[in-house]
Amino acid sequence: MNKNEIVHRAHAKGKFSHGRREFLRFASLFGGGLVFAKPFLAMARPKGMKMLIIYFSHSGNTRQVAREIQALTHAEMVEIMPQIPFPENYDKLVELAEKQASEHYLPAFKVEGHVDFNDFNVIFLGFPIWAYTMPMIIYSFLDKHKFAGKKIAPFCTQMGSGLADSEDRLKELCPQADILPGLAIWGSKAAESSQLVKDWLKNNGLCQQE
Ligand SMILES: Cc1cc2nc3c(=O)[nH]c(=O)nc-3n(C[C@H](O)[C@H](O)[C@H](O)COP(=O)(O)O)c2cc1C
Repeated sequence: MNKNEIVHRAHAKGKFSHGRREFLRFASLFGGGLVFAKPFLAMARPKGMKMLIIYFSHSGNTRQVAREIQALTHAEMVEIMPQIPFPENYDKLVELAEKQASEHYLPAFKVEGHVDFNDFNVIFLGFPIWAYTMPMIIYSFLDKHKFAGKKIAPFCTQMGSGLADSEDRLKELCPQADILPGLAIWGSKAAESSQLVKDWLKNNGLCQQE
Protein backbone atom coordinates (compact mmCIF):
# COMPACT_ATOMS: atom_id res chain seq x y z
CA MET A 1 0.00 0.00 0.00
CA ASN A 2 1.52 3.39 -0.89
CA LYS A 3 1.33 6.57 1.20
CA ASN A 4 -1.66 8.03 -0.66
CA GLU A 5 -3.64 4.82 -0.23
CA ILE A 6 -2.86 4.77 3.47
CA VAL A 7 -4.00 8.40 3.83
CA HIS A 8 -7.11 7.82 1.72
CA ARG A 9 -8.06 4.80 3.83
CA ALA A 10 -7.38 6.78 7.00
CA HIS A 11 -9.81 9.47 5.85
CA ALA A 12 -12.39 6.90 4.70
CA LYS A 13 -12.30 5.34 8.16
CA GLY A 14 -12.45 8.76 9.86
CA LYS A 15 -9.04 8.11 11.44
CA PHE A 16 -8.27 11.73 12.11
CA SER A 17 -11.42 12.28 14.10
CA HIS A 18 -10.26 9.70 16.64
CA GLY A 19 -7.75 11.78 18.53
CA ARG A 20 -4.09 11.98 18.97
CA ARG A 21 -3.10 8.29 19.19
CA GLU A 22 -3.91 7.76 15.50
CA PHE A 23 -2.36 11.10 14.65
CA LEU A 24 0.88 10.20 16.43
CA ARG A 25 0.98 6.85 14.57
CA PHE A 26 0.68 8.69 11.25
CA ALA A 27 3.22 11.27 12.34
CA SER A 28 5.77 8.53 12.97
CA LEU A 29 4.94 6.93 9.59
CA PHE A 30 5.41 10.10 7.57
CA GLY A 31 7.78 12.14 9.69
CA GLY A 32 11.20 11.57 8.23
CA GLY A 33 11.14 12.26 4.46
CA LEU A 34 14.21 14.00 3.08
CA VAL A 35 13.32 15.95 -0.05
CA PHE A 36 14.86 18.53 -2.36
CA ALA A 37 13.38 21.77 -3.70
CA LYS A 38 12.48 21.97 -7.39
CA PRO A 39 14.24 24.54 -9.58
CA PHE A 40 13.06 28.12 -9.19
CA LEU A 41 10.50 29.26 -11.78
CA ALA A 42 10.24 32.97 -12.45
CA MET A 43 6.85 34.44 -11.59
CA ALA A 44 5.59 38.01 -11.53
CA ARG A 45 3.35 39.67 -9.01
CA PRO A 46 0.17 41.12 -10.59
CA LYS A 47 0.17 44.93 -10.62
CA GLY A 48 -1.36 46.68 -7.61
CA MET A 49 -0.92 43.74 -5.24
CA LYS A 50 1.12 44.43 -2.15
CA MET A 51 1.75 41.06 -0.58
CA LEU A 52 2.76 40.06 2.91
CA ILE A 53 3.42 36.56 4.22
CA ILE A 54 2.57 36.06 7.89
CA TYR A 55 3.20 32.64 9.37
CA PHE A 56 3.58 30.61 12.51
CA SER A 57 5.75 27.48 12.40
CA HIS A 58 6.86 25.39 15.33
CA SER A 59 9.07 22.79 13.67
CA GLY A 60 9.87 24.52 10.35
CA ASN A 61 7.56 22.92 7.76
CA THR A 62 5.26 25.90 7.39
CA ARG A 63 8.30 28.20 7.28
CA GLN A 64 9.57 26.17 4.34
CA VAL A 65 6.30 26.69 2.43
CA ALA A 66 6.34 30.39 3.38
CA ARG A 67 9.79 30.61 1.77
CA GLU A 68 8.50 28.94 -1.39
CA ILE A 69 5.73 31.55 -1.58
CA GLN A 70 8.26 34.31 -1.01
CA ALA A 71 10.56 32.95 -3.72
CA LEU A 72 7.68 33.05 -6.21
CA THR A 73 6.04 36.33 -5.19
CA HIS A 74 8.84 38.39 -3.57
CA ALA A 75 6.34 39.21 -0.83
CA GLU A 76 7.59 40.59 2.46
CA MET A 77 7.50 38.10 5.31
CA VAL A 78 7.02 38.20 9.09
CA GLU A 79 6.75 35.42 11.67
CA ILE A 80 4.28 35.05 14.52
CA MET A 81 5.93 33.61 17.64
CA PRO A 82 4.66 32.79 21.11
CA GLN A 83 5.81 35.19 23.83
CA ILE A 84 6.35 32.16 26.06
CA PRO A 85 8.00 29.47 23.91
CA PHE A 86 5.93 26.34 23.32
CA PRO A 87 7.42 23.04 24.60
CA GLU A 88 9.89 21.24 22.37
CA ASN A 89 8.76 17.85 23.74
CA TYR A 90 6.21 16.50 21.25
CA ASP A 91 3.78 14.93 23.73
CA LYS A 92 3.80 18.07 25.90
CA LEU A 93 3.20 20.21 22.82
CA VAL A 94 0.23 18.06 21.71
CA GLU A 95 -1.18 18.24 25.24
CA LEU A 96 -0.80 22.03 25.30
CA ALA A 97 -2.32 22.48 21.83
CA GLU A 98 -5.33 20.34 22.72
CA LYS A 99 -5.81 22.19 26.02
CA GLN A 100 -5.56 25.62 24.37
CA ALA A 101 -8.03 24.57 21.65
CA SER A 102 -10.58 23.03 24.03
CA GLU A 103 -10.44 26.04 26.38
CA HIS A 104 -10.23 28.52 23.50
CA TYR A 105 -7.21 30.02 25.26
CA LEU A 106 -5.47 32.81 23.34
CA PRO A 107 -1.70 32.63 23.99
CA ALA A 108 0.31 35.86 23.88
CA PHE A 109 2.23 36.35 20.63
CA LYS A 110 4.88 38.59 19.14
CA VAL A 111 5.59 39.39 15.50
CA GLU A 112 9.21 39.00 14.32
CA GLY A 113 9.79 41.58 11.60
CA HIS A 114 8.74 45.19 11.18
CA VAL A 115 5.91 45.93 8.80
CA ASP A 116 2.83 48.12 8.77
CA PHE A 117 -0.05 45.76 7.94
CA ASN A 118 -1.89 48.72 6.36
CA ASP A 119 0.68 48.74 3.57
CA PHE A 120 -0.54 45.39 2.15
CA ASN A 121 -3.69 44.23 0.39
CA VAL A 122 -2.90 40.49 0.09
CA ILE A 123 -2.03 38.52 3.22
CA PHE A 124 -0.64 35.00 2.94
CA LEU A 125 -1.41 33.45 6.33
CA GLY A 126 0.47 30.25 7.17
CA PHE A 127 0.21 27.80 10.05
CA PRO A 128 0.44 24.10 10.86
CA ILE A 129 -2.81 22.30 11.62
CA TRP A 130 -2.95 21.57 15.33
CA ALA A 131 -5.72 19.56 16.97
CA TYR A 132 -7.80 19.67 13.76
CA THR A 133 -7.78 23.46 13.53
CA MET A 134 -5.41 26.45 13.39
CA PRO A 135 -3.08 26.76 16.38
CA MET A 136 -4.62 29.06 18.99
CA ILE A 137 -1.78 31.53 18.50
CA ILE A 138 -3.31 32.27 15.08
CA TYR A 139 -6.63 32.98 16.79
CA SER A 140 -4.72 35.33 19.16
CA PHE A 141 -3.20 37.13 16.19
CA LEU A 142 -6.52 37.45 14.33
CA ASP A 143 -8.16 38.73 17.49
CA LYS A 144 -5.99 41.84 17.01
CA HIS A 145 -5.77 41.99 13.20
CA LYS A 146 -8.95 41.67 11.16
CA PHE A 147 -7.59 42.60 7.71
CA ALA A 148 -10.88 44.20 6.63
CA GLY A 149 -11.00 44.80 2.88
CA LYS A 150 -7.91 42.64 2.23
CA LYS A 151 -7.50 39.25 0.61
CA ILE A 152 -6.30 36.48 2.91
CA ALA A 153 -4.73 33.44 1.26
CA PRO A 154 -4.39 30.71 3.91
CA PHE A 155 -1.78 27.98 3.66
CA CYS A 156 -0.99 25.20 6.07
CA THR A 157 1.14 22.14 6.60
CA GLN A 158 -0.44 19.07 8.13
CA MET A 159 -0.35 15.29 8.44
CA GLY A 160 -3.71 14.29 7.02
CA SER A 161 -6.33 16.80 8.16
CA GLY A 162 -5.92 19.07 5.13
CA LEU A 163 -7.06 22.62 5.90
CA ALA A 164 -9.45 21.17 8.54
CA ASP A 165 -11.85 23.95 9.60
CA SER A 166 -9.42 26.80 8.98
CA GLU A 167 -11.16 28.45 6.01
CA ASP A 168 -14.51 28.51 7.87
CA ARG A 169 -12.88 29.84 11.05
CA LEU A 170 -11.07 32.54 9.06
CA LYS A 171 -14.38 33.68 7.53
CA GLU A 172 -15.77 34.04 11.07
CA LEU A 173 -12.67 35.71 12.52
CA CYS A 174 -12.12 38.12 9.61
CA PRO A 175 -15.66 38.73 8.30
CA GLN A 176 -14.71 41.72 6.17
CA ALA A 177 -11.73 40.05 4.52
CA ASP A 178 -11.90 38.06 1.30
CA ILE A 179 -10.78 34.54 2.26
CA LEU A 180 -9.29 32.83 -0.79
CA PRO A 181 -9.21 29.02 -1.20
CA GLY A 182 -6.39 27.68 0.94
CA LEU A 183 -3.41 25.44 0.29
CA ALA A 184 -2.65 22.36 2.41
CA ILE A 185 0.80 20.76 2.10
CA TRP A 186 1.96 17.56 3.78
CA GLY A 187 4.50 18.47 6.45
CA SER A 188 7.03 15.96 5.12
CA LYS A 189 6.63 17.41 1.59
CA ALA A 190 7.15 21.05 2.54
CA ALA A 191 10.60 21.23 0.94
CA GLU A 192 9.24 20.07 -2.42
CA SER A 193 6.06 22.14 -2.44
CA SER A 194 7.20 24.57 -5.14
CA GLN A 195 4.94 23.27 -7.94
CA LEU A 196 1.86 23.04 -5.69
CA VAL A 197 2.53 26.56 -4.43
CA LYS A 198 2.95 27.85 -7.97
CA ASP A 199 -0.33 26.25 -9.14
CA TRP A 200 -2.18 27.62 -6.09
CA LEU A 201 -0.83 31.14 -6.67
CA LYS A 202 -1.84 31.02 -10.32
CA ASN A 203 -5.31 29.63 -9.57
CA ASN A 204 -5.91 32.47 -7.12
CA GLY A 205 -4.62 35.14 -9.49
CA LEU A 206 -1.73 35.89 -7.17
CA CYS A 207 1.05 35.59 -9.69
CA GLN A 208 1.68 35.41 -13.41
CA GLN A 209 4.36 33.39 -15.14
CA GLU A 210 7.01 35.66 -16.66
C1 LIG B 1 0.56 19.81 18.62
C2 LIG B 1 0.36 19.24 17.26
C3 LIG B 1 -0.90 18.90 16.82
C4 LIG B 1 -1.08 18.44 15.51
N1 LIG B 1 -2.34 18.15 15.08
C5 LIG B 1 -2.52 17.75 13.81
C6 LIG B 1 -3.83 17.50 13.31
O1 LIG B 1 -4.83 17.62 14.01
N2 LIG B 1 -3.95 17.12 12.01
C7 LIG B 1 -2.88 16.97 11.20
O2 LIG B 1 -3.07 16.64 10.05
N3 LIG B 1 -1.63 17.23 11.64
C8 LIG B 1 -1.43 17.62 12.91
N4 LIG B 1 -0.16 17.90 13.35
C9 LIG B 1 0.97 17.81 12.41
C10 LIG B 1 1.42 19.18 11.95
O3 LIG B 1 0.36 19.92 11.38
C11 LIG B 1 2.54 19.05 10.91
O4 LIG B 1 3.59 18.29 11.42
C12 LIG B 1 3.03 20.40 10.44
O5 LIG B 1 3.73 20.25 9.22
C13 LIG B 1 3.93 21.09 11.43
O6 LIG B 1 4.25 22.35 10.92
P1 LIG B 1 5.48 23.22 11.45
O7 LIG B 1 6.74 22.42 11.18
O8 LIG B 1 5.42 24.45 10.62
O9 LIG B 1 5.29 23.48 12.90
C14 LIG B 1 0.03 18.31 14.65
C15 LIG B 1 1.31 18.60 15.14
C16 LIG B 1 1.48 19.07 16.41
C17 LIG B 1 2.87 19.42 16.90
